[in-house]
Amino acid sequence: MPREHSDRGGQKARSLRLPSGRSIPVLGQGTWGMGEDPAERETEIAALRLGLDLGMTLIDTAEMYGEGGAEEVIGEAIAGRRAEVFLVSKVYPHNATRRGAVEACGRSLRRLGTDYLDLYLLHWRESVPLAETLAAFQSLKRAGRILDYGVSNFDQSDMEEAIALPGGDELATDQVLYNLKRRGVEWDLLPWCRERGIPIMAYSPIEHSPREQRGMLDHPQLKLIASQHRATPAQVALAWLLQQEGIVAIPKAGNPAHVRENRGALDLTLTDEDLRELDRAFPPPRRKVPLAVR
Ligand SMILES: NC(=O)c1ccc[n+]([C@@H]2O[C@H](COP(=O)([O-])OP(=O)(O)OC[C@H]3O[C@@H](n4cnc5c(N)ncnc54)[C@H](OP(=O)(O)O)[C@@H]3O)[C@@H](O)[C@H]2O)c1
Repeated sequence: MPREHSDRGGQKARSLRLPSGRSIPVLGQGTWGMGEDPAERETEIAALRLGLDLGMTLIDTAEMYGEGGAEEVIGEAIAGRRAEVFLVSKVYPHNATRRGAVEACGRSLRRLGTDYLDLYLLHWRESVPLAETLAAFQSLKRAGRILDYGVSNFDQSDMEEAIALPGGDELATDQVLYNLKRRGVEWDLLPWCRERGIPIMAYSPIEHSPREQRGMLDHPQLKLIASQHRATPAQVALAWLLQQEGIVAIPKAGNPAHVRENRGALDLTLTDEDLRELDRAFPPPRRKVPLAVR
């Protein structure tokens, strides 16, 4: 039985402080895969609106998702309620030049039906020099088109490099793959970010794939802990992330039952014993491992 959260009064999820001093909700909604199938559009809009009603006001997207389609779905979902939303989008690396990022941001804003993003991220690193991308982000910030900026899929060495560049000291976050099964970031990136007060956004937090026969959510230990709390494995996986310092989790759910379930994770507190059991079932890293990506 999932723990359901039935509060439709718009109670907001807990939040964290970004280095800029602005706050970011700890539990949001991902949108990868949305905006690809017109037959799913209404369901996706309804799922996002339900998430907002339940207080999951952070929405994460990217120009890449559905090649702009996800941003259009979000634009419709948040019409008339922009002020409630903490909106995150990402620029393709090949668009992340001084001029290209500014233009890409303009296109994202048009699709989203808004005139500012709360957070704009470089989706991953390619050949465009980081200094150029940071300069573009700074000019977008000065113009009020983005309130904060950050990166995604950066390992610790990339972060060291970025932070030393002009504008690097304003990096708000690093969005990376992080869940019970993929704990490599705990070795170095996570402590490095914590020391500097930079929250990590954990993507694929439940790493569920409908194609996988036996995914993370089928792990017997996860199922056992879930049943002890009258919760679901997905809720335990999310609560494990949310109980840690400096982590934002952005599960994607197109199914309304999943949206409610994910919101319920905020009300679940894992015990020290649960955490030890989870460490045994999903061991933390014992050495540096390359940053996992999806
Ligand atoms: N920066 C990057 O490079 C990057 C990469 C990957 C993802 N992301 C972001 O992170 C978000 C989340 O990652 P993700 O989409 O890869 O994976 P995820 O959120 O871990 O998993 C999404 C899948 O889990 C299902 N699901 C959601 N809630 C569930 C629940 N309570 N119980 C069982 N199944 C549930 C969803 O099904 P339904 O849709 O049917 O509900 C969907 O199939 C993305 O949507 C995107 O915004 C960023």
